Amino acid sequence: MTTRWDPEQYLRFRDERSRPFADLLARVAHPGPSEVVDLGCGPGTTTATLLQRWPRAHVVGIDSSSAMIERAAAVAVPGRLEFRAGDLRDWKPEAPPDVVLSAATLQWVPGHEDLIPSLVASLAPAGVFAFQVPGNFDQPSHALLRDLASTPRWHDLLGGLGRPDPVLHPRRYLGILLATGAEADVWETTYLHVLTGDNAVLEWVRATALRPFLAAIDDAVRSGDEPAGATTEFLDACSAALREAYPPDARGRTVLPFRRIFAVAHVAGA
Ligand SMILES: C[S@@+](CC[C@H](N)C(=O)[O-])C[C@H]1O[C@@H](n2cnc3c(N)ncnc32)[C@H](O)[C@@H]1O
Repeated sequence: MTTRWDPEQYLRFRDERSRPFADLLARVAHPGPSEVVDLGCGPGTTTATLLQRWPRAHVVGIDSSSAMIERAAAVAVPGRLEFRAGDLRDWKPEAPPDVVLSAATLQWVPGHEDLIPSLVASLAPAGVFAFQVPGNFDQPSHALLRDLASTPRWHDLLGGLGRPDPVLHPRRYLGILLATGAEADVWETTYLHVLTGDNAVLEWVRATALRPFLAAIDDAVRSGDEPAGATTEFLDACSAALREAYPPDARGRTVLPFRRIFAVAHVAGA
């Protein structure tokens, strides 16, 4: 099954999606890194903000989605900001980086917690590893999709795709970071995003949590196992359930509470 990312759909809520990156960055205390890496850089728009923060840094964004990397190429700056396609699990820095960031990505990587010590160990002296993951798998935005996928209509095709919550309790991230010997700072925030537009929460999850379900339906339509209207049928059902859980107000605004977990590790200098 090919689960493609759609950069334009992802950027529909660009302001809301970029804010956690800025909030994470605000706790990174590095005076002047030379090498900065953004693992799971997506469309590169937040990665590009690193050039203002550290005007002398060389910044590299890595992402496993070719669609995201193609979109990111539009904001590349030769010699200063480059983007490479690749799986972050295979990433090996040429020289120890000063700052490694990863925003809204590690939750897609099975067993991501086991990678954290080696990412901290990869840093140059006085380096920083900072990441952010969503903490909303129990929220209706995700639970309703899983519920729908497990109904008799969809169970055979989609029932196995409602993966368990991959994100750890913030205390576990703190423990993993402290065990590396780094100074660690872990916190959580629940944003109350005020979204506009029709079916705002459906449009939000369409760029993220809904993708694996839609990819499976598309594959089944292509192979003839599902009728041509199956995608619309599933989207209509998601839309109705999400609209009931997140009703828009009289002016068409929809509030989406979104919890996120942040973690920053500073390693000792030379
Ligand atoms: C939700 S987007 C986050 C984009 C950006 N960091 C942000 O904060 O808006 C998650 C990104 O992680 C990438 N990704 C998922 N698994 C990955 C992996 N194993 N290696 C590299 N990138 C990965 C996806 O392709 C996607 O672009």
